[in-house]
Amino acid sequence: MLLELDHISKIYGDLHAVDDLTLTVPAGQWLAIVGSSGSGKTTLMNMIGCMDTPSKGSVSLEGRRLEDLNASQLADVRKNMIGLVFQKFYLVPHLTAVENVMVAQYYHSVVDQRQALEALDRVGLKDRAHHLPGQLSGGEQQRVCIARALINCPKLILADEPTGNLDEKNERIVLDLFRQLHEQGTTIIVVTHDALVASCADREIMLNHGVLVGEQWNNETAREAYEAAGGKPAFTGSTAEGAQRDGDAPVAFANPTKAAKTGDLE
Ligand SMILES: Nc1ncnc2c1ncn2[C@@H]1O[C@H](COP(=O)(O)OP(=O)(O)O)[C@@H](O)[C@H]1O
Ligand SMILES: [Mg+2]
Repeated sequence: MLLELDHISKIYGDLHAVDDLTLTVPAGQWLAIVGSSGSGKTTLMNMIGCMDTPSKGSVSLEGRRLEDLNASQLADVRKNMIGLVFQKFYLVPHLTAVENVMVAQYYHSVVDQRQALEALDRVGLKDRAHHLPGQLSGGEQQRVCIARALINCPKLILADEPTGNLDEKNERIVLDLFRQLHEQGTTIIVVTHDALVASCADREIMLNHGVLVGEQWNNETAREAYEAAGGKPAFTGSTAEGAQRDGDAPVAFANPTKAAKTGDLE
């Protein structure tokens, strides 16, 4: 498995932002994490992306437990393995699109303008390469962020509400990019409360108050491959079998959006 979360919790005082979650994600899977605002999605992403550590439990990437790595090894994992895409774009306002992409190269290895331009070309923005973020639409800015996330060829893309600030047309463009990445074998984990975005993923899990409350598959082939490789359903609490015995195993949700829409969303 590319990613293994083993009974992870994030606890702030009395609040369990993520509560004893076990989840495995194989290389190449496209997973959506859905849930209402405050359900722990960003907290979970931050722990997967080595930006935060769990209060309990462990996170492993490619079989390496993150808690066993020192600061420089963790920095290497962040730089080499993970590409991050956020709802807010976090572009440097006084740098052009291509320079923003080159900042990511700088932190990774060496800057290479030709490669940065190619990355912008991949997201359809070659002719906007020398524009400042303020001269780009929201959709274009998000595509710069995706180019930036892709520059180091990460195995894992973590995207937190990547289409949250986009109109429908730009949402489609971003989803098409994710679809291409998925076809090329990139593992994608996307946090979203948009049904359309979630439905593009192979698999969806739903959180509520940090607890897993649902899991469903949108891609039967991916499900069969996952199960054949020994993949288990995600679960909260003790063991999956124990949870089922106790009658609180997550149930498949027929319509995640409908469920998500009943909560108050960000
Ligand atoms: N640094 C923090 N300190 C205290 N509480 C936090 C912190 N970060 C997140 N929380 C709380 O954890 C819960 C989950 O937050 P978050 O993961 O951001 O939810 P989501 O991304 O699903 O909206 C919320 O109740 C939030 O207020
Ligand atoms: Mg969030």
